[in-house]
Amino acid sequence: MRNITLTRPDDWHVHLRDDEYLRRTITDSARYFGRAIVMPNLVPAIDNVQAATEYHQRIVANIPDGSAFKPLMTLYITQNTRPETIIEASESGLIHAFKLYPAGATTNSEAGIEAIESLYPIFETMQKANMPLCVHGEVTTETVDIYDREAVFIESYLKPVCAAFPALKVILEHITTSEAVDFVLKANDQVAATITAHHLLFNRNHMLVGGLKPLYYCLPVLKRNIHQNALIKAATSGNSKFFLGTDSAPHPKSAKENACGCAAGSYTAHAAIELYAEVFDKVNALDKLEGFSSFFGADFYGLPRNPDRITLSQESWSGPDRLQFGNDWLIPIRNGETITWKVKP
Ligand code: DOR
Ligand code: ZN
Repeated sequence: MRNITLTRPDDWHVHLRDDEYLRRTITDSARYFGRAIVMPNLVPAIDNVQAATEYHQRIVANIPDGSAFKPLMTLYITQNTRPETIIEASESGLIHAFKLYPAGATTNSEAGIEAIESLYPIFETMQKANMPLCVHGEVTTETVDIYDREAVFIESYLKPVCAAFPALKVILEHITTSEAVDFVLKANDQVAATITAHHLLFNRNHMLVGGLKPLYYCLPVLKRNIHQNALIKAATSGNSKFFLGTDSAPHPKSAKENACGCAAGSYTAHAAIELYAEVFDKVNALDKLEGFSSFFGADFYGLPRNPDRITLSQESWSGPDRLQFGNDWLIPIRNGETITWKVKP
């Protein structure tokens, strides 16, 4: 049986949700991840240090005994965010990044930004405070096709922001296109990207062929296979600008399989490192998995790498059909299907 031992990985982008859902999400993430960058898109948005402190306490209360899992908090940038919030956040030691959602781009983005240009004083303060900016990179313009929204965002907004603030740390989250890969490759060392397991494993055919499948509906949406291949190439290249961020985003079954509109988000936290291992193994790049999952994100965020290790073995197991999620069910990616790597307990 083949084994691979890695420095304990981290998840640089996850949705833990709140209250009765925390038990599920944290149990799964804490199974093998050392740390996770926790997204602030609750309702109301986590947009100030006080709210993040309280949310952090609720998360910590759900961490299983004996786990060293550390949630790394972020704040949501709204049109009301002031430079003082950045300074307070940076002095708090609790906040590791700010998240920019264009208003209407995704789940719980209503409090997001209508006019990115108006944020330049915020970016200026973030740059000075060395506070990273996580970006959901999609325009919401009605006339722009949903498959083009990431590429248009990069040209219209991200390139100008990165040019104006060359020392600002920017993480283009959950990239989905070859345009995003090219942008990150050409940008300076302050610009990086996270890549999800589901965007590496799937393309839009998985979502659309043989019937519309809510399981795969996430934002930015899955693109065509040439983009999937560009992401695989980037993730497995050993380039430190690309690192692991699951964007594991649970929604109750009733919200996903809903005739009035499917909630955007795919859940992978129950098997994330195993799913990434499959992708890397398939292209004979398992030797590149540790950098992607355990080194590059920590280095980019200026945090120490985890001190301990985990081992995965090539061992088939059946992904759960469904998971308990509060009073509802959660259908995870690979439900009822074989997963070929497994973290040793
Ligand atoms: O698919 C997604 N789900 N993309 C996001 O950007 C947000 C997330 C969520 O919160 O459900
Ligand atoms: Zn996300």
